[in-house]
Amino acid sequence: MLKVGFFSAQRYERPFYPEGARDGVVIEHFEQSLNARSVMLCQGLDAVCVFVNDQLDRTVLERLSIVGVRLVALRCAGFNNVDLETARELGIRVCRVPAYSPEAVAEHCLALILTLSRKTHKAYNRVREDNFDLNGLLGFNLAGKTAGVIGYGQIGQALVRILKGFGCHVLVCDNEPRQGDFTQVDLDELLAASDIVSLHCPLTDDTYHRIGEPEFKRMKNTAMLINTSRGALIDTRACIEALKAGELGYLGIDVYEQESELFFRDRSDSIPQDDVFARLTSFPNVLVTGHQGFFTEEALAEIAATTLDSLAAFERGAALSGEL
Ligand code: NAI
Repeated sequence: MLKVGFFSAQRYERPFYPEGARDGVVIEHFEQSLNARSVMLCQGLDAVCVFVNDQLDRTVLERLSIVGVRLVALRCAGFNNVDLETARELGIRVCRVPAYSPEAVAEHCLALILTLSRKTHKAYNRVREDNFDLNGLLGFNLAGKTAGVIGYGQIGQALVRILKGFGCHVLVCDNEPRQGDFTQVDLDELLAASDIVSLHCPLTDDTYHRIGEPEFKRMKNTAMLINTSRGALIDTRACIEALKAGELGYLGIDVYEQESELFFRDRSDSIPQDDVFARLTSFPNVLVTGHQGFFTEEALAEIAATTLDSLAAFERGAALSGEL
């Protein structure tokens, strides 16, 4: 029987990953994130199942190896939070969910774009207070605008399909040559020409702070920047400076550089400690959601099916889909 510690377990996930034994796998839920402090909970486990903000760095992996953990199963697509080289060195196998409903994230991008452009979040509050004044709610059409998509993988492709449906002219920037109903350009050209820029490349050493001060200078002052990929693709401090200087029209983010200290918990009773985040959310043209791009019934069901299959396959000694 494979004993799996399910970290960062949320109430909404429990129906998808019932505790107890099934298919040779027994799951135990832990509300804590997995990090250097909580790794002592892994005594007696064979595998851990983790999410986007669990920290699988060298220290944690070494301790996992000592207690006999042999598999890290990520129940997400991104894997920037795992030191893969150390895992390999220690003989710990790592798998992820490479593909699940890319539409879930692409449609969330659209929600951010339309909310920012048509200011429906402000309209909702106004109407509830019997304020039907339209001043300050002026939006813009998506039809005819230029949308730049950075990273033409599964989510980028799903977003391009949506943007084409809205009548946008689409520019794509990717490391690989890509073909489709769009123009592939380099990053500088995309930034200079786009009314909307959406990030869909993974976070790597190469893409860390991909959008920083020089990139904000290159973008149109009216441009909208959307990030549903990973927070550290954007240099947040440079972004705040651009917003203050009026060099960025709108910002819509579902991810934030320091989100591991903030997201996925109710902190409404706590004194805010992150001054950068507080400054960011003070701008009227900034919209933040707490990493919910993946959060649809369809995506959760697909993530759970793949993750449970991988755990059962590992126990049987079969190949793992999404092994890294
Ligand atoms: P994917 O692996 O299918 O596509 C990534 C694309 O980025 C590839 O086409 C690759 O060639 C390209 N790329 C890599 N480096 C690049 C660079 N420097 N410049 C331009 N393009 C580059 O990944 P997928 O499934 O589309 O996911 C993208 C990211 O979305 C993930 O890495 C993850 O961080 C994030 N994500 C966020 C979710 C959320 O809930 N907000 C949920 C799922 C994924």
